[in-house]
Amino acid sequence: MRPHRLLPLLPRHDGGRSALTCRFKCGDACAHEAPNTSGNAYLGDVVADALSRRTMLRTGAVVTLAAAAGGIAVTSGTDVAAAAPEPLHGGHGGHGGTVDPDAAKGLRFRPVEPNTVDAVVVPEGYAQSVVIRWGDPILRGAPAFDQARQTAAAQAGQFGYNNDFLHLFDLPGERGRQVLVANHEYTDEILMFPAYDAANPTREQVEIAWAAHGLSVVVVEEERHSGRLYPVSRHGLNRRLHTRTAFRLTGPAAGSPLLRTKADPTGTKVLGTLNNCAGGTTPWGTVLSGEENFNQYFGNAASVTDPVTAERLKRYGIAGAASERKWERFDDRFDLAKEPNEVNRFGWIVELDPFDPDSTPRKHTALGRFKHEAAQPRLTDDGRPVVYMGDDERFDYMYKFVASKAMRHGTGRAVREHNLSLLDEGTLYVARLTGDSPAAEFDGNGKLPSDGEFDGSGEWIKLASGTTSFVEGMTAEEVYLFTRMAADKAGATKMDRPEDVEPSPRTGRVYVALTNNTNRGKAGSAGADEANPRSNNKHGHVLELAEFFDDPAADRFAWRLFLVAGDPADPATYFAGFPKDDVSPISCPDNVAFDPHGNLWISTDGAPGTLGTHDALFGVAVKGDKRGQVRQFLSVPKGAETCGPIVQDQRVLVAVQHPGETDASTYENPSSRWPDGGKRIPRPSVVVVWRKDGRDIGV
Ligand code: FEO
Ligand code: CA
Ligand code: CA
Repeated sequence: MRPHRLLPLLPRHDGGRSALTCRFKCGDACAHEAPNTSGNAYLGDVVADALSRRTMLRTGAVVTLAAAAGGIAVTSGTDVAAAAPEPLHGGHGGHGGTVDPDAAKGLRFRPVEPNTVDAVVVPEGYAQSVVIRWGDPILRGAPAFDQARQTAAAQAGQFGYNNDFLHLFDLPGERGRQVLVANHEYTDEILMFPAYDAANPTREQVEIAWAAHGLSVVVVEEERHSGRLYPVSRHGLNRRLHTRTAFRLTGPAAGSPLLRTKADPTGTKVLGTLNNCAGGTTPWGTVLSGEENFNQYFGNAASVTDPVTAERLKRYGIAGAASERKWERFDDRFDLAKEPNEVNRFGWIVELDPFDPDSTPRKHTALGRFKHEAAQPRLTDDGRPVVYMGDDERFDYMYKFVASKAMRHGTGRAVREHNLSLLDEGTLYVARLTGDSPAAEFDGNGKLPSDGEFDGSGEWIKLASGTTSFVEGMTAEEVYLFTRMAADKAGATKMDRPEDVEPSPRTGRVYVALTNNTNRGKAGSAGADEANPRSNNKHGHVLELAEFFDDPAADRFAWRLFLVAGDPADPATYFAGFPKDDVSPISCPDNVAFDPHGNLWISTDGAPGTLGTHDALFGVAVKGDKRGQVRQFLSVPKGAETCGPIVQDQRVLVAVQHPGETDASTYENPSSRWPDGGKRIPRPSVVVVWRKDGRDIGV
């Protein structure tokens, strides 16, 4: 690959996204003061703390990342690619220009150049198709999508808007079929509805938006002679979960007086899920989904006079009078003046059993309440799930939950019920990181410290376990409901927007996407430190974490930065030490996933504003001599974000979220008409990519 020059910067909204994305996706979070105004330590302060490196050295507890991971068996697993790959559709024609051998196995495609093409661009030798679009019918009786005749009733049976997290499950007993689960994070009414009047939305528009949020479960069928996947509409497992679907609050805070409302005096039954961003899957076959920017849906925070409640709302970024979408005019539960506790019923990790269409999904209070980006479990040696999680806000925190019970194997109802209760009992922790280089070496310019690495050790600080609180001045219930405030008190480390978190299934090392934070180093905000080494961090970074003794339940870990993103020609970038003339530019890492070879795949959100080119999907080796060689696999259309990557042996899937969401783009005059073209409006869609010769991805 040829070296990349520094790309020209386009005008951008703070943080890189378009103003329209900021407005609808996160309620203009970046335009407001970061909600974490705690005097809480940032990493630079922590060196002097009682549990600092010095203390740990005395106790012999400090180990380097390499040493911590030393005991990890780096199993090669089933070497799928080493066996002659079975062609997917009997295709032939050899490798041609498809294979670039100078890369790790699984990443041997010719990288896609950064671009501004209004399409999904895939490597030479690869093909693509849309699996499912916003509005495609998935339930019995749902009509085909008609942009001019949208109704809430139709939308409730159709695939939702703005797909984000994706997962495919095998479907036992139905050959060639898989179960796709997708999150629908938010709606962009300006692109969805003609002549949308944001000051006066209609009831029908609001109810369509209610029905377009949430999750979809849809069975997809593999086409026999290609990599295509088609939705099987009306399959018995197909399901839409939206703003009016019944959910159950479970775990130690369920039933709390702070969760009770007029409609639900039990504090356990919630209607709906909101702003479901990324997620994860459990080893017992369920999906975890993060309720992220739930704050933006609630109106009249300004009328709340109780100082304790007002402080809690402020820490969660809930402010002002009318909400962006004005839902409070159509349902009192979105009006904080009328129903102050409804907001406490959002901001959780949701667990959905996609194989039981009649099940009531759970909101797990034991995993804490914040702007949950994602949640991905890993099992301890004795079978207890440990869930890693990020709070996607500037200067907020990384968390983990360690369950107290072990997963059971088997298929019976009792086993299923047991496993579905695993995330209700355990201990919630927040991360505090310590750097191993002198704080003076971090002036915000992103230069590597003299020891050659951004690295150090860390501590998981206990917040609560069952009904026991470890945070002074807060009950356990308060810790679960107002977890951000508990973490402030516990002295957690302020990070640059922790997004998706993914443990490697091969090494157990955990990768955290820290997407960006342009407030880092600003007057009155935390400055640069070893774990967040750039002021005005517009490109973000990826952190690699190894638990001590490879025990997911450990209370200590080692960490280092794996990538410091940006244009490789920018000296303030770092690609795990890999030569920068052979990597793709990458900015705003967001969702992360592993492929069957153990490579990390990273999708981005915000690159148009920071690199000038469209968001994209990248693969990067995390071990071996290609470690750090970032390679771009695809790019998405104008205004879109790349989400939900799934990388299987022979298919890559991405959720193309908010195509056409650029400044001044509207229903009447959208900046993209992907994927339908003509006079059609843009439609968020899931795309599948495969190799034309039928062989495995990237080998
Ligand atoms: Fe919905 Fe943090 O991205
Ligand atoms: Ca260092
Ligand atoms: Ca995300």
